[in-house]
Amino acid sequence: MEKAKNDKITIAIDGYASTGKSTVAKRLAKELKYIYVDTGAMYRAVTYFALQNDLINKNYFKEKELIERLPEIDLTFHFNQITETNDIYLNAANVEKEIRSLEVSHYVSPVSAIAEVREYLVKLQREMGKNKGVVMDGRDIGSVVFPDAELKIFFTAEAKVRAERRLLELQEKGEKVDFDSIYQNVLDRDRIDSSRKESPLIKTEDAFEIDVTCINKEEQYQKVWELAQNILIAKTKTRK
Ligand code: DC
Repeated sequence: MEKAKNDKITIAIDGYASTGKSTVAKRLAKELKYIYVDTGAMYRAVTYFALQNDLINKNYFKEKELIERLPEIDLTFHFNQITETNDIYLNAANVEKEIRSLEVSHYVSPVSAIAEVREYLVKLQREMGKNKGVVMDGRDIGSVVFPDAELKIFFTAEAKVRAERRLLELQEKGEKVDFDSIYQNVLDRDRIDSSRKESPLIKTEDAFEIDVTCINKEEQYQKVWELAQNILIAKTKTRK
């Protein structure tokens, strides 16, 4: 793969849960030598904080208290030499593993529906991408965080296929999970993420929609790589 000489751009990758956004975004960032930001990890870390501090469980959600305590939440990413990707740290503790649990997945949608939580995280995300040269994945990157991103991707896939992928991922990490609860979680998150008032999951008009139901990971990556290269090459030409 030949890489175009380029001015750096902003790449926004949005879409439904478990459509392979982060796999594509990580690899793309690595090949372009861009920063990668997993915004889902940030919403998950806030949720983990809420669980740890007894602010949310199946009986209640202390929204107001979580909002008041947002300034206590310090989120940073640090490169992990072994996995060759960024791990998320919550108040200086690596919580990369903890935030991927099914329990966090269960509570993350209500937490990410809160306007103040979104405001807090969007501000951090804009700061992280302010110099361009960033690949950011999430739900509202192309619509809210970086509406001027030069490249916007929106991934979709059938819910059953996404649940199967997620099941494999979690099983590989040694979690004991069953297909039905994962499938239900995928459906619930789709519903809440798409219907919430604050920054719902939507495809913007200028985003490229890619349905990954019937394509493999390599094909998925190549489609995005080509789109990125076209933009980078066009940018180089206009500069000449
Ligand atoms: O990408 P993920 O599945 O790890 O994200 C977890 C949840 O975080 C997802 O269900 C919705 C929320 N999220 C969001 O609301 N906005 C983002 N930019 C990223 C994630």
